[in-house]
Amino acid sequence: MTILAGVIGDPIAHSRSPILWGHWLTRYGIRGHYVPLHVRPEDLRATLDLLPRLGFAGINVTIPHKEAVFAAADEVTDRARAVGAANTLTFADGRILADNTDGYGFLANLDQGAPDRDPASPAFVLGAGGAARGVIAALRDGGATRITLTNRTRARAEALAAEFGPIITVVDWDAADAALAGHGLLVNTTSLGMQGHGDLTLDLSALPAQAVVTDIVYTPLETPLLRAAKARGHPTVDGLGMLLHQAVPGFERWFGRTPEVDATLRQAVLA
Ligand code: ATR
Repeated sequence: MTILAGVIGDPIAHSRSPILWGHWLTRYGIRGHYVPLHVRPEDLRATLDLLPRLGFAGINVTIPHKEAVFAAADEVTDRARAVGAANTLTFADGRILADNTDGYGFLANLDQGAPDRDPASPAFVLGAGGAARGVIAALRDGGATRITLTNRTRARAEALAAEFGPIITVVDWDAADAALAGHGLLVNTTSLGMQGHGDLTLDLSALPAQAVVTDIVYTPLETPLLRAAKARGHPTVDGLGMLLHQAVPGFERWFGRTPEVDATLRQAVLA
């Protein structure tokens, strides 16, 4: 039997997921297809009804549908509920199961790229949007006991602190440089540093020398933040691995095999 899966989004043309999944399907000799589907918000409900009837095992979900599919699902995992959004839907027995593997992908990427990191060490998170929510939930579930959060719009950081509780301390965006002291991990979840967006100008001199620096932005692969961190000798982890690792649970579920995230896959996706 040929297994079908895909990714829905609006826009979708830029998605690298079909290359990523296609690489795994070829590598493991699996009979299956993974297709990008341009789905507009007004067509979302009809798409969710139709795809299982067409034989799709599941789909990945990207902007702007992650919250809407979470709301439309029949069942949601705890990690999807923690974020209020889903990126992985499995169709089974007429039901839709919604999962969110972004946080898993974030942590798996850190574990692979910085295996010596202490998960309990204080983390510093830049940004308080949807991506930050997933990163914070993942860090907490991974053993972090203290997270410092800063955002240009302080109220959004305060809202996340109210939701996640005393594990979070909010600092002013303008005070971030000095507040980096004492942290073992620095994470950028803002869009700063992405091609076509503004620059992230952070003075890293207060960050302890052994602190790991990671960015969820991966266009470019080496963001100005990662370049500055490397120049100071920090271990760094780029954001592409998060994209690769977040696909693993869906591939396992739909195609029945645990795929590898390695240099060959990275090259394929970057090509
Ligand atoms: P996502 O779901 O990717 O997190 P988002 O919810 O739009 O997207 O959040 C974008 C993040 O980037 C926010 O933390 C945003 O800060 P604000 O809450 O103040 O908007 C941050 N961001 C975007 N552009 C920024 C800029 N020029 N300076 C500082 N922060 C910026």
